[in-house]
Amino acid sequence: MIKKVGIIGGGTMGSGIAQVAATAGCSVKLYDTKTEALEKAKADLEKIMDHLVEKGKINSEEKQRIQNNIKYVNSLKELKDSDLTIEAIVENLDIKKNVFSTLEKFVSDDCIIASNTSSLSIASIASSLQKPERCIGIHFFNPAPLMKLVEVIPAVQTSEETLKISVKTITDWGKIVAVAKDTPGFIVNRVARPFYGEALRIYEEGIASFAEIDTAMKEIGGFRMGPFELMDFIGNDVNYTVTETVFEAFYYDPRYKPSFTQKRFAEAGYLGRKSGKGYYNYSDDGKMSVRAQSRTHSEGTVSSTEIFERILIMLINEAADALFWNIASAEDINNAMTKGVNYPKGLLAWADEKGMDWCVKKMDELYDEYHEDRYRCSPLLRRMNKGGLRFGV
Ligand code: NAI
Repeated sequence: MIKKVGIIGGGTMGSGIAQVAATAGCSVKLYDTKTEALEKAKADLEKIMDHLVEKGKINSEEKQRIQNNIKYVNSLKELKDSDLTIEAIVENLDIKKNVFSTLEKFVSDDCIIASNTSSLSIASIASSLQKPERCIGIHFFNPAPLMKLVEVIPAVQTSEETLKISVKTITDWGKIVAVAKDTPGFIVNRVARPFYGEALRIYEEGIASFAEIDTAMKEIGGFRMGPFELMDFIGNDVNYTVTETVFEAFYYDPRYKPSFTQKRFAEAGYLGRKSGKGYYNYSDDGKMSVRAQSRTHSEGTVSSTEIFERILIMLINEAADALFWNIASAEDINNAMTKGVNYPKGLLAWADEKGMDWCVKKMDELYDEYHEDRYRCSPLLRRMNKGGLRFGV
């Protein structure tokens, strides 16, 4: 039973994870090298708790209990009595490895040492430990207290016991766990790539503008945000880096190829909301407006439905291929996108709804048109179509 939790890094993710663990009744120590980060984490939590009390979600005793459950510490050694530690510091392998090997000297032999990394391999982080079998990926989504999904990623070194305890703990904290293989992007950051990449490509081909593509995805697809709005929200610098990292990690598979448009936007400082300008303009009060922007050439013959279906089939193909490669179970792949990034439907359920025949036909049409490996249909979709099968999720 995990009772004492150490969180390393008190930034966006670390402070959110601390809140989740403290709310679930764990005694939490939040460690950061910067006093300002700890002060901010504490002040932010106070605001969040006040807001929850105002909304009647918790009462003032619960607020006190949650806040009392978190201690803010400025030395790694303070985490020595932890049953579980979750690291959420800067995304840099050498720095993480250094912190892990130092931490291991303080904690007991059965303490689980987890990382919240989005893009590094858990095997490489685990290799810094004397007992790598206690290492695992526990990947929350932002904001951690609100997003239901947590990906749990055992490395090749991870013991069954470590996996079992981690899954149970995160489930006890009220989250939905998806167990993923230690491969680039895990589930969500892999399967979501076409949402951005295919949208950028449609724009680059001159088929439609940013706003037209966003409208198609929202009005026909039911997505809360269009791809360009979402990239502006995430930040074009951050989103571009994730794409480039995944592309390189997959040995330059053209399915994940980054886009020059996004690269130039990032280079120009058109980062999105945070810089006031991205694919849209943002006023000081956060209002979004369409920028004067021209298409490369306008054909005007492609409908919103065709735009939506092209992005959707690329997403479905990616989800099916993740299952083909045993990255996770069908259920976990399907859940991951609705619970981790708020998609209106799970992609495998969407495939069932559209039919395997439709899926294969759509992919083959794209392949016939472009003859690029990017548009290869997943063997699993083809196999299921032949067998008349459904994902049944
Ligand atoms: P952040 O920049 O908000 O916070 C990082 C914190 O770690 C800072 O307060 C910094 O002072 C502290 N820190 C840096 N080096 C340290 C060290 N050696 N020891 C102790 N503290 C140290 O970063 P964020 O966004 O919270 O990301 C943290 C981790 O979570 C990264 O691995 C990132 O890839 C991952 N992640 C981020 C998500 C996001 O949407 N921001 C989503 C899921 C995972």
